[in-house]
Amino acid sequence: MTKPKVLVTRRWPRAVERRMEEAFDLDLNASDRPLTEAELRDAMGRYDAILPTVTDRLPATIFAGSSPRTRILANYGVGFAHIDTEAAKSCGIAVTNTPDVLSECTADIAMTLMLMVARRASEGERELREGRWTGWRPTHLIGTKVSGATLGIIGFGRIGQAMAQRAHFGFGMTILVQNRSPVPAEMLARFGAVQVPTVEDLLPRCDFVSLHCPGGKTNRHLINSRRLDLMRPGAFLINTARGEVVDEHALAQALWFGTIGGAGLDVFEREPRIPDELLGADNLVLLPHLGSATRETREAMGFRVLENLTDFFGGRAPRDRVA
Ligand code: 8YV
Repeated sequence: MTKPKVLVTRRWPRAVERRMEEAFDLDLNASDRPLTEAELRDAMGRYDAILPTVTDRLPATIFAGSSPRTRILANYGVGFAHIDTEAAKSCGIAVTNTPDVLSECTADIAMTLMLMVARRASEGERELREGRWTGWRPTHLIGTKVSGATLGIIGFGRIGQAMAQRAHFGFGMTILVQNRSPVPAEMLARFGAVQVPTVEDLLPRCDFVSLHCPGGKTNRHLINSRRLDLMRPGAFLINTARGEVVDEHALAQALWFGTIGGAGLDVFEREPRIPDELLGADNLVLLPHLGSATRETREAMGFRVLENLTDFFGGRAPRDRVA
């Protein structure tokens, strides 16, 4: 039997690529350069499966008017807002993602950002490396206490829950939750959490707000200037979800005018481009989309894609089918 022809759009951990090579007729992107829309459209005519990531844009125009060879887009990552799943569906293309395996590491990065911005870790390191540290003093780089504070979590899926676990059990934080559907009472009780109906109800009550909702059109600029105004003056915003969830210009203004205390971002609207107005903000910690970037997790994500593909081509329903 001929093996399905599979395209991996970016370099993956070697251990996963090796296993993939055994199972499929595999093409790797040796240069690791993001593919253009034209290249992706061309690939849809030549491969049975394409394994995209967040750096691949697959809007409706890619699918328009084509009868592609591709039968499955097995996404490497949990977020799939970069794929127009409706358009894929109308061409009979299945879409899968990689949930669960990256929840802990993504929550770890959200905690990292929260601690770094509240305790002014980046500012301190910059001062030290630039030779500006003049020594200990009681008023030096005074931050905000994280332990015991109130954390608002927007989006209470697997990553939001992993965040609640760390914040509640590790740092004794009070947890408020906003989620589009009701969260079961026993799950809230696990973290001593309270669900509030709207984002407007949540924001004024929190010292920290962490975003864990999906990206895409529905949540574009969920955090805008009006909602930033609702946050407490010293509060901090953390985003490890998707860049488009935050209006970056409104955030830059809020940071500049001190409407909020600070922010920590791992994701951006036009990655890898970061607006200058954000780069200039001292009360902002920036990371280059590192949420799932551990060896353990990136390998687990790859093996999860392999599992989805093996099931799909074996005639079984892939466990992570999202469209
Ligand atoms: C991934 C992520 O590494 O899984 C996600 O949705 O945000 C990241 O952790 C990246 O998106 C790969 O596609």
